[in-house]
Amino acid sequence: MKNPVNVAIVGATGAVGETMLKVLAEREFPIRELHLLASERSAGEKVDFNGRRIVVENLATFDPAGIDIALFSAGGDVSKEYAPKFAAAGAVVIDNSSAFRRDDDVPLVVAEVNPEQLKNRPRGIVANPNCSTMQMLTALAPIHREARIERINVATYQSVSGTGRRALEELGRQTAAMLNFQDPKPEVYPVQIAFNVIPHGGDFLDNGYTSEEMKLVWETRKILGDESIQVNATVVRVPVFYGHSEAVHIETREKISAARARELLEGAPGVEVVDEQRGGGYPTPVSHASGNDPVYVGRIREDISHPRGLSLWVVADNLRKGAALNAVQLAELVIAE
Ligand code: A2P
Repeated sequence: MKNPVNVAIVGATGAVGETMLKVLAEREFPIRELHLLASERSAGEKVDFNGRRIVVENLATFDPAGIDIALFSAGGDVSKEYAPKFAAAGAVVIDNSSAFRRDDDVPLVVAEVNPEQLKNRPRGIVANPNCSTMQMLTALAPIHREARIERINVATYQSVSGTGRRALEELGRQTAAMLNFQDPKPEVYPVQIAFNVIPHGGDFLDNGYTSEEMKLVWETRKILGDESIQVNATVVRVPVFYGHSEAVHIETREKISAARARELLEGAPGVEVVDEQRGGGYPTPVSHASGNDPVYVGRIREDISHPRGLSLWVVADNLRKGAALNAVQLAELVIAE
C-alpha cells in the first residue's frame, strides 16, 4: 500500500462531498488523517466514514498546514477563496468547481482521457471537469483518437443531484406535493421540476447559450487539446435524482462505422457498452448508472442524415464519474507520482 496521506474534503456535507467519502472508502484510498470541512452551519456535525464518526470542521477557521490532498466541492466562490490557501500550504488541490477550469496554468483532467496533463500544475491546483463534459469525453475520446471528431451536437438530460442537496430535496418535496394535489412551490429551480423538464442550466450568456452549455464547448476543447472542435449543446434538467444522460451526435473527419465505434468503446477504460437493440437493452440512470462507476454507452448507430455522423446515448452517475470518482482517481494519480 502507498504511504498514507492527509486528506481534506471541502464541502464534505454536500451531495458530491458525501460521494467522495464513499468512493475514498470503496477504493481504500490510503488516508492518514481525514478532515471534513464545511461552513460554520454544519461544523460539529458527525459524518460516518468507514465505520468511524468524524466531526465536521469549519473551513473558515481550519489551518491547512500538513494537508497533502484537498478535494474541493463547495462551489466556485469557496474554491476561489480557499484553494490558493491550501495550495500555498503545500496541498495538491483537486477542485470540482468551475473556478479555475479555464485557466491556462490549471490542468483540466479526465483520468482516462488526459492523465498526462496532471503533472503540469504550477499553482498546485487541478480542475475536475464539469459532470456532463466528463462522461461525454470518457466515451468520445477513443473515437476522437481514431477518427477525429470535428463537431459534437449534444442534448443533456441532467439529474437534479448535479445542482446539489437542496435540489434533491426540492424534487422529492414537489413530487410528494403534486401527488397530494398541493402547490409544488419552486425554490431552487425557476419553474417546477417534478413531472417537468427545464431547458436551462447555469446562467444565460450573451450568445443565447447558458453557462452549463458553454462549459461543454470550452472544456471539450481544453481536455482534448483541440481548439477546432465545434460543440453545440442544449442542457436540460429532468426530474431524475441521480445520473445524467446525453444524446450525443458527432461528425468525424474519417468515416467510422457503428461496429468499429462499439469495438473501440468495448475496450475503452471507464466505459461499459450496453447496446442490445431490444427493450431495456440500453443504459438508463436508474437501471445502470446510479450508484455505479462506469460511463455507459448505448444506442450506437450511424447517423442517416450525415455521411460521417454517429449517434450515441451516454449515461453516468454524475456524482461518481461526473464528480467524486474522477476527483479521487486524480488524487490516486497524484500520490502515485
Ligand atoms: P454546509 O453543509 O455547511 O452548507 P451541495 O452542493 O450539495 O449543496 O453542497 C455544498 C457543500 O459546500 C456543503 O458541504 C456545504 O456545507 C459546503 N459549503 C457551502 N458554502 C460554504 C462555505 N462558505 N464554506 C464552507 N463550506 C461551504
